[in-house]
Amino acid sequence: MTDTIDISSSAGSYNFTVGRSIFEKHLTALKKKNQFSDCFIFADENVWKNHNNRIQTAFESAGLSFKKEIIPSGEKSKSIKQWERLTGVLLQSGVRRNTPLFAIGGGVTGDLSGFVASATMRGIPLIHVPTTLLAMVDSSIGGKTGVNHETGKNLVGAFYQPVEVIADTTFLDTLPDREWNNGLSEILKYGAIRDRSIFDRSEFFLERSSASNKKENSSLENLILDCAGIKADIVQEDEFESGKRAYLNFGHTFAHAMEKVADYGTLSHGEAVYLGMLAATNLSNSLGADLNDEILRKFRPLYSFDISPEMLPVDSMFKTMKLDKKNVDENFRFVLLKNWQQPVVETVNNEELIRKAWLTVFNELD
Ligand SMILES: NC(=O)c1ccc[n+]([C@@H]2O[C@H](COP(=O)([O-])OP(=O)(O)OC[C@H]3O[C@@H](n4cnc5c(N)ncnc54)[C@H](O)[C@@H]3O)[C@@H](O)[C@H]2O)c1
Repeated sequence: MTDTIDISSSAGSYNFTVGRSIFEKHLTALKKKNQFSDCFIFADENVWKNHNNRIQTAFESAGLSFKKEIIPSGEKSKSIKQWERLTGVLLQSGVRRNTPLFAIGGGVTGDLSGFVASATMRGIPLIHVPTTLLAMVDSSIGGKTGVNHETGKNLVGAFYQPVEVIADTTFLDTLPDREWNNGLSEILKYGAIRDRSIFDRSEFFLERSSASNKKENSSLENLILDCAGIKADIVQEDEFESGKRAYLNFGHTFAHAMEKVADYGTLSHGEAVYLGMLAATNLSNSLGADLNDEILRKFRPLYSFDISPEMLPVDSMFKTMKLDKKNVDENFRFVLLKNWQQPVVETVNNEELIRKAWLTVFNELD
């Protein structure tokens, strides 16, 4: 199966394509269309370890010569230090304004490489090759790029659209189980804010225990395509997050605070998002909604959290939440739900209700 969505943005439109073993064909087509022969590859460390033969052969067969740089695995790579290093690599290796950069990896590689591409010579062509489920359904679409800062997550960055997104599910064959769950969290987010059927269609994650089974499940590519379609719909309507795009942050205000306080890495982004959605559901109920969170809790057995409540002092999390980009004044702003699939952005100044929502998270920690 190969399927493509055309995504429009102020910088032009680009294709998102999902399918198995589509990478080679797309490289050849890209070269033909854009007439380039040199390019850069920024690849995630684990992706390179597992797939370097295939990647190198694909570029060689397409007649593309490349310079490659490895990005160390993990959230800590989304740093100003790595951004500076990689920018230096491009500039010292003779990058030109039309030299494309291929970001091959998960959300960390995509966000970091995208930010490098956005600023190098005020923008070089960027091609996302997402290799995690999370990157396929979320981070490779919509043009948000950036790095973390010591004061908070994603606080330094730019909107910068790719020229193409190639989501080849063959890369997922080597994805560890924990990373499947990270992708699942963002998939469930689309279920919560937009399409209830996604909850049911995600049940195969529960039924099948190993990644190898998941990859064989034919519904996976359809699910990826539909989630990418929801994200594309939302970002096309609100490219620079002045309104509806914020809905994609359901659970994320809580999640970003946990990730930061736990010092990036202890709790993965997807794990934090899953817990954050439970907290946001609780807060929504405190403010008048009547949501049965069983629909999210059903997926709880898939997650195991390597963190205790003592590692997440509430005062530190309040401090971090205050720095969240969504806050416009002293009050906290959250994406909440009036009902399932009815997101709203709400200002909350009752700290007791927020503390109560944090308790929901602590009750879930092993
Ligand atoms: N830009 C956006 O709109 C957006 C949206 C959502 C999330 N994000 C960001 O995305 C990041 C999380 O992305 P992620 O979950 O993909 O994490 P990640 O990029 O850190 O990848 C997760 C792990 O999987 C490994 N990996 C990647 N592909 C693999 C493969 N095919 N086989 C084996 N191992 C593989 C990586 O080495 C890493 O250890 C966060 O920084 C988050 O803030 C950005």
